[in-house]
Amino acid sequence: GVTRHYKFIIKMKNITRLCRSKSIVTVNGKLPGPRVVAREGDRLVVKVVNHVPNNISIHWHGIRQLRSGWADGPAYITQCPIQTDQSYVYNFTITGQRGTLFWHAHFSWMRATVYGPLIILPRRNESYPFVKPYKEVPILFGEWFNADPEAVINQSLRTGAGPNVSDAYTLNGLPGPLYNCSGKDTYKLKVKPGKTYLLRLINAALNDELFFSIANHSVTVVEADASYVKPFVTDTLVIAPGQTTNVLLKTKSPAPDAAFYMLARPYFTGMGTFDNTTVAGILEYENPKSPENAPLFKPSLPAINATNVVANFSNMFKSLATNRFPINVPQKVDKRFFFTVGLGTNPCPKNQTCQGPNGTKFAASMNNISFALPTTALLQSYFFSNNGVFTADFPDFPLHPFNYTGTPLNNTHVINGTTKVEVLPFNASVEVIMQDTSILGAESHPLHLHGYNFYVVGQGFGNFDPKNDPSKFNLVDPVERNTVGVPSGGWVAIRFQADNPGVWLMHCHFDVHLSWGLRMAWIVLGGKLPNQKLPPPPSDLPKC
Ligand code: C2O
Repeated sequence: GVTRHYKFIIKMKNITRLCRSKSIVTVNGKLPGPRVVAREGDRLVVKVVNHVPNNISIHWHGIRQLRSGWADGPAYITQCPIQTDQSYVYNFTITGQRGTLFWHAHFSWMRATVYGPLIILPRRNESYPFVKPYKEVPILFGEWFNADPEAVINQSLRTGAGPNVSDAYTLNGLPGPLYNCSGKDTYKLKVKPGKTYLLRLINAALNDELFFSIANHSVTVVEADASYVKPFVTDTLVIAPGQTTNVLLKTKSPAPDAAFYMLARPYFTGMGTFDNTTVAGILEYENPKSPENAPLFKPSLPAINATNVVANFSNMFKSLATNRFPINVPQKVDKRFFFTVGLGTNPCPKNQTCQGPNGTKFAASMNNISFALPTTALLQSYFFSNNGVFTADFPDFPLHPFNYTGTPLNNTHVINGTTKVEVLPFNASVEVIMQDTSILGAESHPLHLHGYNFYVVGQGFGNFDPKNDPSKFNLVDPVERNTVGVPSGGWVAIRFQADNPGVWLMHCHFDVHLSWGLRMAWIVLGGKLPNQKLPPPPSDLPKC
């Protein structure tokens, strides 16, 4: 591989959306941010210089960071944030991966405007396991707030209320014609007839899982989270924040005398409000006979709360699992975990008024623990054995057993202010069952694991049944991902091999749940051999 250098200048930029101008935090003045392209086996060296008043860090979402955990990016986990007028060089090699990923800020809600595509092409002499596309097109979904996203989350944390929802979804940064005065801010995909396009779909929205469909066109799904899957055809896609999906779009021939909406809008089953609007882009054929009068077709999308559509869609994903792209599903398990994931509430602190349910504060937890970020980076504290920053007593099972679909018992109990981690021996094979608690209503949670891909070996609705469900696990060709939706009112089972030493965050990729504490960290110990250990940090690692 070769070494590729990028420079990210974090700077303010004035931009106008939905008729309002405001100053936002950007990378190099762009929204979405610059496209990072490399090949499998390459080294990426990205110098990030912070010229805004806010702290920031950048995460390379889905990159395995094999023995390069110092470059992973989540603030207070693998590094202290990059402060104003400071810089940090992210330096890592892309090993054993190719496909679509993305990069985003990993401090507070800064990723609302700080995100961009991360495209890993196959090695020079290697081809795709599908027809060579005529063209490749990244399509990033985002979420636009008229307010400052930092003010939105800070107010929620202060008052205990749910945050204000976004004002628009965006497609490659543009809201499209279904929003006020946004007709000229429409993403247009111009295509030639009879060609195959590879669309690299990325959900970079903050808090919403999305349905996506292109009128009168079906697509073939070929990859998820930078892993090849057995191809399948679909009209409608479901994509959660943190997930990426590659699809092939075969254009019609001859060119139809029409244009086609590409629409995305949310899937939502939770409590409270959400942004119930629709982003539209337009698929246009080159040289239609009468572009002005060409009819514009609209796709129909599933109902907002169509959980069955979401479950059926996620069941379609199987690893490609060929000789050329083999998979390695742990058949035996060394360490088993059962994590509840969900929302709850904390009592309102004395002398404060809180605007959460019944005067409480919203919180979120895994195994009843609302994870508190430390004020220094976990990875440093672990690596240099600085005591007192975390405790290694994250529970393997929930503290308060209950019927996850029944009447709540101790279910709203969360513990604030604790930084508990789970320690894994090097190379342990791990199984985690994640169960939606449905305490404040059933809700899907896109769980993301840093530093690893995992295999999704099972999923179902209701309570996980430890007697009967494991016999139905798929240990042959389960999909390999870095982000999986814990089904609304259900559970998911994942397996991975802990072969990457370091400190790795696992969290809900809805930023509001993440901010409320739906996160935890794994410490994976180094092995005996030198190439099984994490090397020391680079000298420019930011200080807190
Ligand atoms: Cu894409 Cu921890 O995040």
